[in-house]
Amino acid sequence: MTLLIRRMIPQDLEQVVEIDRASFSLPWPARSFLHELTENPAARCWVAEMDGGIAGMIVMWLILDEVHIATLATKAGFRRQGVADSLLMHALTCARGEGARKAFLEVRAGNRAAQAMYRKHGFIQDGRRPRYYKDNQEDAILMSLERLPEEA
Ligand SMILES: CC(C)(COP(=O)(O)OP(=O)(O)OC[C@H]1O[C@@H](n2cnc3c(N)ncnc32)[C@H](O)[C@@H]1OP(=O)(O)O)[C@@H](O)C(=O)NCCC(=O)NCCS
Repeated sequence: MTLLIRRMIPQDLEQVVEIDRASFSLPWPARSFLHELTENPAARCWVAEMDGGIAGMIVMWLILDEVHIATLATKAGFRRQGVADSLLMHALTCARGEGARKAFLEVRAGNRAAQAMYRKHGFIQDGRRPRYYKDNQEDAILMSLERLPEEA
């Protein structure tokens, strides 16, 4: 199966919102994705396309030399096939090309799969925000990457 990483467009939003709702206990409202896509100049929104549909998405905010990973998810039936790996690598490499040097994110303390993924890409844990998530009072783990990957 061919995996294509490309910029998100408004026509993707229905599928993106569906993936987000199925992936997170506090999903974003559809208007938040629309805002990122059409009104936030700092946002970089990518999708992974597989079999003609959207298999995953990532939204990052690029501010000066830092990127913050705002959200990243793979559609349930497409997990464990390298979709998030490819999205993350592509988005970080492009951010580096735009001048970013460091990356930051928060992840739920119980989300071991995502933490393993970020560690695989070189992120380290450098903080913790107690009871950060309002739905279940779960802690947030803060992770950062000091050197973004460069184009091979
Ligand atoms: C986390 C998530 C994005 C991973 O997406 P994916 O496309 O399945 O990930 P990949 O196949 O590219 O795997 C990348 C790495 O992530 C880690 N990983 C992914 N799923 C994992 C799991 N179930 N258990 C342990 N590690 C896992 C592994 O390190 C994996 O590398 P490997 O295959 O070489 O071992 C996906 O599970 C998801 O959408 N979860 C819900 C939303 C979410 O938690 N997003 C992150 C918020 S910070």
